[in-house]
Amino acid sequence: MKVVQDLKVSKKKFLNDGNFILECVSEDGLPLIKPGQFAEVQIPNNAVFLRRPLSIHDVDMKKQSVQFLTKIVGAGTLELSKINEGDSINVVFPLGNGFDLPTQGKVLLVGGGCGAAPLLYLARQLNEQNVSVVTLLGAKGAQDLFEQEIFARFGEVLISTDDGSAGEKGFITKHSIWENIKDIDMVYCCGPEIMMKVVASLAKSKGIPCFVSLENTMACGIGACLCCVTETTRGNECVCTSGPVFNINDLAWQI
Ligand code: FES
Repeated sequence: MKVVQDLKVSKKKFLNDGNFILECVSEDGLPLIKPGQFAEVQIPNNAVFLRRPLSIHDVDMKKQSVQFLTKIVGAGTLELSKINEGDSINVVFPLGNGFDLPTQGKVLLVGGGCGAAPLLYLARQLNEQNVSVVTLLGAKGAQDLFEQEIFARFGEVLISTDDGSAGEKGFITKHSIWENIKDIDMVYCCGPEIMMKVVASLAKSKGIPCFVSLENTMACGIGACLCCVTETTRGNECVCTSGPVFNINDLAWQI
């Protein structure tokens, strides 16, 4: 059930020039959060009018803390990056459907750039359910890769970078794992849409179920403004309420 809470920022960590993590503690008690769900966050100092959607990166129920990983893309996220530890932010969460978790087998998580944001909590929960996890992370260069060592706690981590500064050189969709994914039961993917379409096509060609988390522009986060619609086999649907996670078979993608 979604709630509105003031969360206290317990930690702010810059991953590089453009990406940062906010760890925030709930004093009212965290609601139940599924991997892949998101929050609408009020930007401090009324710097922008609309809330900003942020991926839930990780959850620690013992500490009652939630992490948001985000990229500075405009005035709102820039202002958010200036927040100090000890400050509070007002959030509406958890929103969206989130990922459905299998209870057995082996899954491949594919994260392009900061598309890896919702996959860490997913990897953690899959690992807790004894599902075997392989995480493939891709980025322009080594400086754009995030938290490989934390993903590695939950399974094998594979890397590709466009410039070859870490892992295999080339696009994430050209990584050698795609040549042999027969033992993979499910693919979960988040990143730029063009990348997700290629991943969807690769999974489909091998007959492996694939779920993607869309990152359409969002404003309200609750299905009211219609700015996030995507075309599905059922007609146009709001990504914020029907998604952000979709089975690729339900999307009107030419793959
Ligand atoms: Fe407003 Fe989805 S963000 S309808």
